[in-house]
Amino acid sequence: MSDIDRLAALVAEARCAVAFTGAGVSTESGIPDFRSPGGVWGRFDPSEFTYRNFVGSHEGRRRYWALGRVTYPLIRAAAPNAAHLALAELHRLGRLDCCITQNIDDLHQRAGLPPEAVIELHGNATRARCLDCGHACTRDEVHARLELGVEVPACAACGGVVKPHTILFGEAMPRAAVQEAEQRARAADLFVVLGSSLAVYPAAYIPIHAKRAGAALVIVNLEPTPLDREADLVIRGKAGSVMAQVVGTVRARSLQGG
Ligand code: APR
Ligand code: ZN
Repeated sequence: MSDIDRLAALVAEARCAVAFTGAGVSTESGIPDFRSPGGVWGRFDPSEFTYRNFVGSHEGRRRYWALGRVTYPLIRAAAPNAAHLALAELHRLGRLDCCITQNIDDLHQRAGLPPEAVIELHGNATRARCLDCGHACTRDEVHARLELGVEVPACAACGGVVKPHTILFGEAMPRAAVQEAEQRARAADLFVVLGSSLAVYPAAYIPIHAKRAGAALVIVNLEPTPLDREADLVIRGKAGSVMAQVVGTVRARSLQGG
């Protein structure tokens, strides 16, 4: 039995399967990841894009929005790929409890996963809000102003600081999302990591919670990760093709009443 067939059997037989995704699940949609060669942090200095820099100065926000003006069109233009579509179908087949994601690109939702089955640890780039009055707006509205030459968009309601609904370095992750993710990870008997270097904490603790609670841990990633040693199965492959094969096998088994 191939490793992909083993994963398909685990998914078909799991009581509660949870997926955990990183930027590697969106590279096949044209969105660069962070730490692969040519990734975002190879071209921009992550230490510039901290929460402290953003809230601390107009210059910090100007630099952030200059990067955002380049990266957001990639996110908006991206289409879900086979990995996103496979996870959405597994959920429809009753074979996936939820997807915990570090990604901010909204592609799991656009692939058809219901919002309540997507737990976003690092927020969502399609939304923004004012840090002063809480006024919410879409990223499209903010992007349109950047395109018109506004360097640091201010809140339309109060002139305050507008920030995308994404978590910057040094910013606390959304407590409710983290608690929900830990709870779902501990309840899982199968935990599948797709396209993450598992290099960033506290997000990278989530797979460990699942493993410690007794789940089978599977890691599908092009590069080695620090958790490979703890995994029950490691598949060195592209998330899109691996998950397309997995959902094909699971679909066939469910049609045969398996
Ligand atoms: N299929 C499988 N794996 C892939 C694919 C693919 N098509 N493309 C890339 N990968 C792998 C890379 O080899 C890499 O190990 O996905 C991993 C992506 O790792 P990162 O770029 O570090 O992304 P991620 O793990 O999501 O980073 C976590 O760091 O900068 C922060 O907030 C950012 O959410 C991000 C967090
Ligand atoms: Zn405001």
